[in-house]
Amino acid sequence: MQRVLITGITGFAGSHLAEYLLTMPDIELYGIRRWRSRTEFIDHISNNIKTLECDLRDQTSVTNIIREIKPDKIFHLAAQSFVPTSWHAPGESLTTNIIGNLNIFEAVRHLNINPWTQVACSSEEYGMVYPDELPIKETNPLRPLSPYAVSKVGQDFLSYQYYMSYKLNVVRTRGFNHTGPRRGEVFVSSDFAKQIVEIEMGKREPVIYVGNLEAIRDFTDVRDMVRGYWLALEKGMPGEVYNICSGKGYKIREILEILLSMSDKKVEVRVDETRLRPSDVPVLIGDYTKFRQQTGWEPTIPFKKTMEDLLNYWREKLAGR
Ligand code: GDD
Repeated sequence: MQRVLITGITGFAGSHLAEYLLTMPDIELYGIRRWRSRTEFIDHISNNIKTLECDLRDQTSVTNIIREIKPDKIFHLAAQSFVPTSWHAPGESLTTNIIGNLNIFEAVRHLNINPWTQVACSSEEYGMVYPDELPIKETNPLRPLSPYAVSKVGQDFLSYQYYMSYKLNVVRTRGFNHTGPRRGEVFVSSDFAKQIVEIEMGKREPVIYVGNLEAIRDFTDVRDMVRGYWLALEKGMPGEVYNICSGKGYKIREILEILLSMSDKKVEVRVDETRLRPSDVPVLIGDYTKFRQQTGWEPTIPFKKTMEDLLNYWREKLAGR
């Protein structure tokens, strides 16, 4: 049996990763969560997971939990993950993301264990990318445009440094945007899908509120993404960093159009100024060649299927099913 720990197991990617790992033999699955986090995404699998309460910002609590679990593998997904929140609460975002990550490394180091650890870094780290740099390779300069992006650069470089200094078995994944069922309603695809379903149900007037529709993002289905996380630890190299993405870019406007084409409602699109950011990353289109060559990973779920599943998720959820 291998003991596998997921931080952020109650969240979007964490719950999908847990489901995926439970399809595999010989895994004892552990998750840590904050005492007040909701468990609705993992309630259906709770009999097969041991979840423990832990505040990642508290070194003692992290060390105690890691001593108890003694994981062979750690997937570090817990984070403050919404870019706009990082402008409202920059200090908290930096602390949760960087110090939370540091506490895991320090716990592992002091306990003299060396679990394989995947750190969920982000394409946001690339930030300002120029047209002649597309598609983005891992070697691209990092020019972060938000406190969130800076926090992910911090996690990324800490991971590198702990590998170089202490030979910790850390593999960094720079995940580009990912979505699918259970996506938090603040993120663009889920926000739009939820608004559309509310309009379908007559719960709101036929007006969709949006932010910057000109940004371009590279979307992967969350189920492909978490399979990538697993492969990163199975076949990736410690100390290395890998982009995980689809290699295709969509304007946010196109995503709205795709979602609207899957509904029979006619809507008006209105810009809500509060959704605009002090600086928005204009374009992120990734190159996953390095990851594919190392692990064999490829995205398998077409974007339209992801959008359909997301709409159906909201249809069921809002109907109370
Ligand atoms: N949230 C939101 N709401 N975004 C909007 C809206 C809106 O109404 N309208 C346009 N956008 C634009 C944003 O300005 C941004 O350019 C893009 O849609 C995507 O926004 P988000 O879905 O909030 O995601 P993100 O790209 O900022 O960050 C996500 O991806 C990163 C990887 O690149 C998050 O999942 C991060 O945690 C992740 O690291």
